Amino acid sequence: MSIDSVITADLAQRPRLRIPAHLGVIMDGNGRWAKARNKRRTEGHIEGVKALRNLVELCINYGVGHLTVFSFSSENWTRPRDEIAFIFNLLRRFVISDLQRLISNNVQVRIIGTRDGLEPSLVRLIDDVEAKTAANTGLVLVVAFNYGGKAEIAEATRKIAREVAAGRLSPDAITEDTIEAALYTAGLPDPDLIIRTSGEQRISNFLLWQAAYSEFVFVDENWPDFDENSFVRVLEAFALRDRRFGGIEASS
Ligand code: IPE
Ligand code: IPE
Ligand code: MG
Repeated sequence: MSIDSVITADLAQRPRLRIPAHLGVIMDGNGRWAKARNKRRTEGHIEGVKALRNLVELCINYGVGHLTVFSFSSENWTRPRDEIAFIFNLLRRFVISDLQRLISNNVQVRIIGTRDGLEPSLVRLIDDVEAKTAANTGLVLVVAFNYGGKAEIAEATRKIAREVAAGRLSPDAITEDTIEAALYTAGLPDPDLIIRTSGEQRISNFLLWQAAYSEFVFVDENWPDFDENSFVRVLEAFALRDRRFGGIEASS
């Protein structure tokens, strides 16, 4: 057998991958990763940032269009103050250390979530990274930070109610599009695939509206252990899904 035919045979044996246009990731299990190694939870968060950096590169290399990662939820405020402060500092450090690389990789960054209650210096940093990457045309990296799906829907409802109260919108004219346009994710496609690591199988208030027809893949590894092998396995599982969207046949 020639080398060429060996390579072809090997490729043929691999299940096909399907690349999502929009991938959502609930990056869970940093604390358990650390605990299993007798380390502090904060060390798990540090390793989690490395896994995120790696995932951004994978998405660029495999041609994912949009990547939304859940990095701090509105419910995470119930954690000890030290841990919250550490996670906030990590976000700051990630933005500062990775901004140049994101720009040179043509990544557009968007941060979704409420900015109420965030320190003004953090809000400025967020605004700055969004502005400096706004014209980029490659991967759209959406960071859900201080984000909750229910809070997002409540905020959208307030916006729409204000339009109605001001006489600019009739209640009968409110459609799904009106609501979509009032969400933080206005203009973004819905995620076609959502991954959650660490073996937990729940949505934890992530993209509630947008996940209406997302496929879910749950993997057992904790977030810091999520690597290219895990990524490929997930894309193989996604390729086998039959997405019917309420119809009777697979869409494609
Ligand atoms: C995910 O890891 C990161 C955040 C929620 C900020 P966790 O911190 O939830 O880790 P576990 O679930 O306790 O292991
Ligand atoms: C979801 O993980 C939030 C993030 C990954 C940022 P949690 O660890 O907060 O979720 P629960 O509490 O296990 O549902
Ligand atoms: Mg967790």
